[in-house]
Amino acid sequence: MAAAISLLFLFLIFFTLTAAQQTSSKISLGSSLSPTTNSSWLSPSGQFAFGFYQYANGYAVGIWFAKIPTKTVIWTANRDDPPLQQDSRLVLTRDGRLILQTTASQSTSIAEAAQSASWASMLDTGNFVLCNSSGNIIWQSFDFPTDTILPGQPLLVEGKLVSSTSETNHSSGWFYIIMQSDGNLVQYPMQNAKAETSYYASDTCCRRDNVTLNFTDDGALNLYNTTGINIKNLYNGGVQCRTNGFISCRWTMDVDGIFRLYVLGQSGNWSTSVHLNPRSCPTGMCGLNGYCVVMDQQYTCRCIPGLDFIDQSQQILGCQRINGTDSCRNSKQHPQFTMSTLNNVQWEDNGYELLPSKTEEDCIQACWQDCNCGVALFWDQRCSKQKLPLRYGRRNDNDQTKTFIKMVIGSGPSGTQMNTNSMEAGSKPKELRKDILFIIIAITGCALLVVALFAIFVQRNRFRSYRKMMTDRGIRNFNDEDITLRSFTYAELERVTAGFNQELGKGACGTVFKGVLPNGQDAAVKRLHKVIDEGEQEFRTEMRVIGRTHHRNLVRLLGYCNEGLNRLLVYEYMSNGSLADFLFKSETQPTWDERVGIALNIAKGILYLHEECETQIIHCDIKPQNILMGHHQCPKIADFGLARLLKQDQTGILTGIKGTRGYVAPEWHRINVPITAKVDVYSFGVVLLEIICCRRSVDVNLPEGQVVLVDWVYDCFEAGEVGKLVGDEVIDKKLERMIWLGLWCIQDEPSIRPSMKKVVMVLEGNAEVAVPPGPSLSNIYEYGNK
Ligand SMILES: *[C@@H]1O[C@H](CO)[C@@H](O)[C@H](O)[C@H]1NC(C)=O
Ligand SMILES: *[C@@H]1O[C@H](CO)[C@@H](O)[C@H](O)[C@H]1NC(C)=O
Ligand SMILES: *[C@@H]1O[C@H](CO)[C@@H](O)[C@H](O)[C@H]1NC(C)=O
Ligand SMILES: *[C@@H]1O[C@H](CO)[C@@H](O)[C@H](O)[C@H]1NC(C)=O
Ligand SMILES: *[C@@H]1O[C@H](CO)[C@@H](O)[C@H](O)[C@H]1NC(C)=O
Ligand SMILES: *[C@@H]1O[C@H](CO)[C@@H](O)[C@H](O)[C@H]1NC(C)=O
Ligand SMILES: *[C@@H]1O[C@H](CO)[C@@H](O)[C@H](O)[C@H]1NC(C)=O
Ligand SMILES: *[C@@H]1O[C@H](CO)[C@@H](O)[C@H](O)[C@H]1NC(C)=O
Repeated sequence: MAAAISLLFLFLIFFTLTAAQQTSSKISLGSSLSPTTNSSWLSPSGQFAFGFYQYANGYAVGIWFAKIPTKTVIWTANRDDPPLQQDSRLVLTRDGRLILQTTASQSTSIAEAAQSASWASMLDTGNFVLCNSSGNIIWQSFDFPTDTILPGQPLLVEGKLVSSTSETNHSSGWFYIIMQSDGNLVQYPMQNAKAETSYYASDTCCRRDNVTLNFTDDGALNLYNTTGINIKNLYNGGVQCRTNGFISCRWTMDVDGIFRLYVLGQSGNWSTSVHLNPRSCPTGMCGLNGYCVVMDQQYTCRCIPGLDFIDQSQQILGCQRINGTDSCRNSKQHPQFTMSTLNNVQWEDNGYELLPSKTEEDCIQACWQDCNCGVALFWDQRCSKQKLPLRYGRRNDNDQTKTFIKMVIGSGPSGTQMNTNSMEAGSKPKELRKDILFIIIAITGCALLVVALFAIFVQRNRFRSYRKMMTDRGIRNFNDEDITLRSFTYAELERVTAGFNQELGKGACGTVFKGVLPNGQDAAVKRLHKVIDEGEQEFRTEMRVIGRTHHRNLVRLLGYCNEGLNRLLVYEYMSNGSLADFLFKSETQPTWDERVGIALNIAKGILYLHEECETQIIHCDIKPQNILMGHHQCPKIADFGLARLLKQDQTGILTGIKGTRGYVAPEWHRINVPITAKVDVYSFGVVLLEIICCRRSVDVNLPEGQVVLVDWVYDCFEAGEVGKLVGDEVIDKKLERMIWLGLWCIQDEPSIRPSMKKVVMVLEGNAEVAVPPGPSLSNIYEYGNK
């Protein structure tokens, strides 16, 4: 009732039709508009207008709410074109086209319809339509939204809403939201749209059918599939958006990258309290050298210390140094530098040098002594030296990164953030006066002690309250004594990974994100792509089996999440990259002994999976990318147990995961050949040869005869020239034995391949290896095709 009265009130106050506006349901051919005289066509109720509106120093063509004092434009034609002049004309031509005449001779099209129109109409729904003679809509503004949708206006597949540049500039801005054809509704920055920079996703990805976003009359946002099933509710609604045809809501992609619901109040003003909640600040919202802070659902920008906004009113333009310089190179004599510290802000990492660094001080030192270094990022005993500008900064309280900014003394704002050491550029701290140094050390020591005690106290409390929270929620952990797998909720993992924003890698079955567990431990969270169809029980059984594995050469599973369609696995975090990086990307090749050690450790891990854990686990996808490097070059196998488990007595045919090209055993391609643990022996054989030769199994950059490693090894083996495989290195009997072992492992016939037990014994030097048979015909065929 109250709403109805207020709407009536609205009608009465704002029902002021000016003489220059025409109300008509049908706009006939030959009608025209001009900015100064007949400037717009109104919808029957007068709520919406289509036509010229004042814009910048001229005019633009668009649709707006016509009855409220704050003119609200919801659609703009050719939004990226410059403002129109006074002599422009909008014409619905006699041959049924809607065109804009900018000068006497030039015209542009406003609506590209396949047929010619018989009439046009500005509807009370906010939709401007062109119709053919049988009354079918042949073009409508609803199909080409700019930054706003209205109730009843769907966002169809590939439909996009692009933010405006600023409140007063309606041209395409910095962010957009798109209804992707994979079923996911995603928000991206305009400049650099890719998975890593997306800052919102509805997580409805990968249903093949077309999904549309529906904005209902109560403000709700729902995703529907083609059969009209509501697959996800993004906002519940509960707002009255349409009363007797009067529309009082809009969802708008705002200038700052946030998608907001606006509701028209009694005074005719818009208010907003709801937005689609991004998992992090809009990427790049604060421009270069700025970072975003979220407080009470408000997104604000700040500059790194010593810098200020280029334009306070357009913070997306970023920050620049207030004065002075960041580099010793340009400065005159003996400039004084200082380092400012910023905590818990994460950036896109584009450092030019990554150093291992035990302490913050080492990292600061490294930056200090390097003229090119403007900023040092320190995390996880690593130090990344960067130049300004920094990009995509956002505060994240779970992120332990410390940002050290080098700056000229006196150029920064006076305040608490300017603290740390100061000294002359290029000079070493050792040159400080000893007595001062002593005092500093003493004070710092005491302070550190206090901080450490405090940190321990806080950490304990946090852990305690976390545990309490878990038990309060009744989340069950497995009870078995020997496993300590934790069950996480999806929301918890969202927090752990700070909204899945740091992607570590993508594999066949899932995407891996960096995370920090509530107890401070680093973790890698794997989100499985294809939801396993097996039931709840099946998944739990698999988790139980994986959770029981304990081996120094296996990546440890810490927990999992099994909630609705979300299946996630939480692993220990391995900071040293994969074996692939280690072998193929690093500057220096590992020594011969290191290679043997790595191969032996991988073999031990596979042996454990095959024979030593309770239920046999066949990996099915052994490859250098799935082997991660721990400390002291200790390899750990990842992703095991994801292929369907094979029970001890079962020799059926595995389906589901198929190995990666180049590493798959030939029996994968044969019908009615059972898949056994020997598929892993085959893949291991290929990896072993890669380790020996320090090259990829297939490398098209090499001379023709060497492209396929396995073929080349056979050739060298048959010619008695295995030494060629390792270049100029000193070879001995050991190399030959390793090559032989590798060739045994990749035998075509599974039963001829050795067991992993035998492989380990050979690598340990406890068993002999015979001369392998030559390649079989089918093997040549297999690799000849790649
Ligand atoms: C404005 O519209 C009215 C009614 O359609 C028409 O009579 C008049 O000529 C138009 N004026 C101009 C300048 O087009
Ligand atoms: C009007 O458009 C509809 C749909 O495109 C089409 O089926 C119909 O034949 C058209 N009518 C005329 C008279 O062209
Ligand atoms: C989406 O909304 C429109 C208008 O409110 C409605 O006609 C349509 O049926 C809705 N789609 C589905 C799949 O419910
Ligand atoms: C709007 O912003 C764009 C991009 O910054 C600029 O090119 C254009 O001139 C601006 N238009 C107006 C009317 O200010
Ligand atoms: C999805 O939409 C596209 C284009 O509109 C259409 O070609 C395709 O057949 C649709 N797919 C399904 C499953 O409806
Ligand atoms: C829409 O979703 C429902 C429920 O998930 C499903 O049964 C139906 O097959 C889906 N429709 C299409 C076209 O995929
Ligand atoms: C509505 O907006 C106008 C202009 O922005 C402002 O002057 C007025 O005070 C607002 N009214 C209310 C009730 O907020
Ligand atoms: C930076 O500017 C401030 C005032 O704007 C000035 O006091 C200070 O000396 C300047 N610093 C340098 C290094 O020029």
